[in-house]
Order: sequence, then C-alpha cells, then structure tokens
Amino acid sequence: MSIDLSEDTITKEVQSTFDGCRDQRTRELFVELVRHLHDFARETRLTGDEWFTAMDFLARVGAVTTPARQEYVLLSDILGLSVLVDLINEHHGPHATDGTLLGPFFVEGRPSAANGSDISGGVPGTPMFVTGRVVGPDGEPVAGVRVDTWHSDGEGHYDVQQEERLHGRPAMRALLTTDDDGRFWYRSIAPRFYPVPVDGPCGEIMRAADRSPMRPEHVHFRLHADGYQPLITMLFRRDDDYLEHDAVFAVKRSLVADFVRHESGTAPDGTEVGEPFETLDWTFTLSRSRPPERRA
Ligand code: BEZ
Ligand code: FE
Repeated sequence: MSIDLSEDTITKEVQSTFDGCRDQRTRELFVELVRHLHDFARETRLTGDEWFTAMDFLARVGAVTTPARQEYVLLSDILGLSVLVDLINEHHGPHATDGTLLGPFFVEGRPSAANGSDISGGVPGTPMFVTGRVVGPDGEPVAGVRVDTWHSDGEGHYDVQQEERLHGRPAMRALLTTDDDGRFWYRSIAPRFYPVPVDGPCGEIMRAADRSPMRPEHVHFRLHADGYQPLITMLFRRDDDYLEHDAVFAVKRSLVADFVRHESGTAPDGTEVGEPFETLDWTFTLSRSRPPERRA
C-alpha cells in the first residue's frame, strides 16, 4: 500500500483494496462507488463540516428507522433512486402492467382476506369497491395469484401511522388470492392524496429545497404468482391535482385509473349502498418468469 497519497492518487489506492473480493459483482459495485464518491467530494470541494453533517444526517435516518417507519426507503424515494433502480431492472415486456415503487408502508405479515371482504378494519370513510383481474401475456386468467393491497384512509394516513388509534391492528391492507378466473375483489374505504412523512430527517431535505411532499391518491398492489414475474405497482386517481407533482417520481401514465364515484346504488359485489361510494376496476397483466440463466 502506498503512503503520501494525494487527491489524485487516493482513489485508485482505495479501489485496489477491493481486488480480493471473491465475488466480482461485489468488487465492481465497491470500485464504482468509491470512484463516484471521491469524484463527488473533489468536484464539490466538500468541506469537513459538510461531510460531518451528512454522516450525522445518515445516523439520524438510521435512528428513526423501524419496520413501520422506513426512513432509508423514504430517502431513496425522494432522491429518485428507488424509481431509477426500478426503471433499470424493469423487464416486464411490452404488454405487462407497469411496475412502480413499493414505498415505505408495505408491511410483511399482512392478514389474509377472502374475496369480497371488507378490509377497512373499521376505519370510517367513503366506501370503495375494488375489482381486479389478473391475466398472463396471452390474456389467460391467472388463478392463485397472491395479491397484496394497501392504501391510506380518507385523510391520507396508513394504518402503521395510526398506532394510537389502531393499536397495531391492520387496516386498509390485506392479502387476497385470485379465483379460477383470475379475479379478486374487496371492499375498503377511499384513500386520499397525502404528504410523505416530513417529521424526520427526510423532511429537512424537503423543507431546505422548498419541495412539495405530496403524493397523488393511489392504491398499492403487489402480485406474486408461480411461473410469472412478480409485479409491484400502484393505481393513481385520474383527477388528482398532484399527479404531475409526485414527491417520489412514481407516477406512470399507464397506471392512471378511474376511481368512479356513485351517489348510491348497487356495488359490484351486489351490496346495496345507501351513501356515495367509489369503484375501481383494473386488469393486471403479468409477464412469465424467465428461465434461469444457464451458467457456463
Ligand atoms: C407510498 O406510496 O406509500 C409512499 C411511497 C414513497 C414514499 C412515501 C410513501
Ligand atoms: Fe402509498
């Protein structure tokens, strides 16, 4: 190892310490990370105080992160990195439903629900009836798809943000399974546009840049089926004012849907509803899993 390193020689020296990586991809990622980090410091003439502030910021992101409060995910989202990584890795094919980011409010271990269930968890709001169909690339219905869905309440809050009110009880989220015709359906309450959480370190960035924290109204879906590529996506309300100002860059035109308002009447599941309600109907197209790559 060399000594007396200079601004010009230190990068190669640090990169060479990864030569011993057993995994070549690990080596490549670290070598490139060092290159970009060092270039960033050189190009911006980063000061010691600024770098200390950045490390303190990252420590504070870690300190507030819990399974229900994913501040690192949020940081990646507001920097556009989550969507960029999705775009780089999207291989769903031309006819498949577009994917978009998972977001920080997905929770593992959600309750299973039968089709037709009310998944609102008793949270009051405008009734919303969701009907979905899952098909493959040739239009064939896909039975047995595990469909995770989750969304906010009518004030823009997810269940995990309402510990005091719900005491950890899941609401507005469930795991459903498609029937033989590829269909799933449930009742819940209509969501609303909302701000990403701004009470933590990511909020400091948003305020420093005078950025809007708002996300347009949407419902999340995560679909898994044997033989098909998993799909993580959202459906966005067509007439939402924030569609073109999403704080996390996740809106795709192909995912804009009609959340149809009805004054009262018969819901898609046959329920008579004596108050205004909404319906959302969508067909999701999955692409087939690719065969595993053959090793040379
Ligand atoms: C969400 O849609 O749940 C979400 C995505 C990114 C940041 C915050 C929230
Ligand atoms: Fe969301």
